[in-house]
Amino acid sequence: MAEGEKIRVLVVDDISETRENIRKLLQFETDIEVVGAARSGKEAIQLVSETRPDVVLMDINMPDMDGITATEIIRKQTPYVQVVILSVQGDQNYMRRAMLAGAREFLTKPPMPDELTSTIRKAGQLAQDEKAKGAQVFASQTSIASLPLSMVGSRRGKVIMVYSPKGGAGCTTVAVNLALVLHNVETEAAIVDANLQFGDVAVFLNEQGKNSILDLTPRAEELDQDIVNEVMIKNSATGLHILSAPPKPEFAEKVKAEQVSKLLEFLKSMYAYIVVDTSSYVNDVTLAVLDVCDVIVLLTTQDIPSIKNIRLFLDLMLTLDFPQDKVVFSINKFDKRIGITPEKIGENLKLQISAVIPLDERVVIPSVNRGVPFVIDNKAQPAAKGILSLAEAVRSKLIEPQGRLRETPGRR
Ligand SMILES: Nc1ncnc2c1ncn2[C@@H]1O[C@H](COP(=O)(O)OP(=O)(O)OP(=O)(O)O)[C@@H](O)[C@H]1O
Ligand SMILES: [Mg+2]
Repeated sequence: MAEGEKIRVLVVDDISETRENIRKLLQFETDIEVVGAARSGKEAIQLVSETRPDVVLMDINMPDMDGITATEIIRKQTPYVQVVILSVQGDQNYMRRAMLAGAREFLTKPPMPDELTSTIRKAGQLAQDEKAKGAQVFASQTSIASLPLSMVGSRRGKVIMVYSPKGGAGCTTVAVNLALVLHNVETEAAIVDANLQFGDVAVFLNEQGKNSILDLTPRAEELDQDIVNEVMIKNSATGLHILSAPPKPEFAEKVKAEQVSKLLEFLKSMYAYIVVDTSSYVNDVTLAVLDVCDVIVLLTTQDIPSIKNIRLFLDLMLTLDFPQDKVVFSINKFDKRIGITPEKIGENLKLQISAVIPLDERVVIPSVNRGVPFVIDNKAQPAAKGILSLAEAVRSKLIEPQGRLRETPGRR
């Protein structure tokens, strides 16, 4: 381990007293730093991507997702992270499952202080070694100079394009709700309406400011944060910033693809996530968004025309040499009564389905009409859960190493 570098530890346990006790046990260890604490498996996954720990101390029985499942996901997403299971269960079966999931060590609760610190030190060393190995592989394949701007400096935001080659699949619904799930005080998100003729993002959020993307694109060469701040609509209900579509369809053609690219690049310096809603019609602007984006949330519904269009779009991506590993493929308006199942769709297109958002007219349609996105007050409903799993898939895609290595700006 590099001298002076502390071992970063994330504590995961649903009982606050246990989290506090572990924190106290570790507070005087000068080479160990507790960088966060999570109350559940799902929260642990999120905090791993945000705090980048070396070692995770993981409980087993927790609400929403147990520690073994969380371990498996964390190890897949960030293989250098070492997981130490802390549990009251001395059961061999648990231990075996934990090890199979990729856990490094298994300690029974409450741990002996010496045992805990020595286990953390060993695991921390291993994590640092793994990280260094990964960095070497990375460095041998690419140089900093060839990296896209989005990877140089951790403050660069990520652009997430929401697209469907079939109109009405639910892009705006998904884009707005996804942006809200990704948005928080630490990772501010903005939503950009690139459906330039009939964009309705602002309406979905019950806003009707007079500013639009047209106030920024002509200044694409000379943007600064003050100008952008002035133009963005700040949704008071959620804090989300909105860049809306031009006020009239005939203004759409004033927006040039090159300006959209520059604008999105600039927004990366201001927001952690920039979610872009697009129209199904492929034109220069759509391709510019595709070029800049880090992830494409590609949406389909369970019908043959939609699936046919997805296939045509994937072919187009191939022809234009856009990397397909940016795709997070999702089904919206899923209805289990329809025979075209997600499995069949995935098999047919040879594309893994990352999230399924159910059809829920009772929740979704009134939420659109009221201008109150359903993830705000309906988090436990199936549609909101679908969006949460989509957000998880997007986050995982963003930290996937292969995608980063193959990413090259300005492909066309
Ligand atoms: N999961 C869902 N369950 C029920 N209704 C939905 C769902 N998702 C979207 N809808 C409804 O489908 C309609 C179309 O949705 P939306 O406007 O988001 O689609 P779009 O892809 O943005 O369409 P366009 O091509 O016009 O931009 C809306 O009435 C919306 O309420
Ligand atoms: Mg739309």
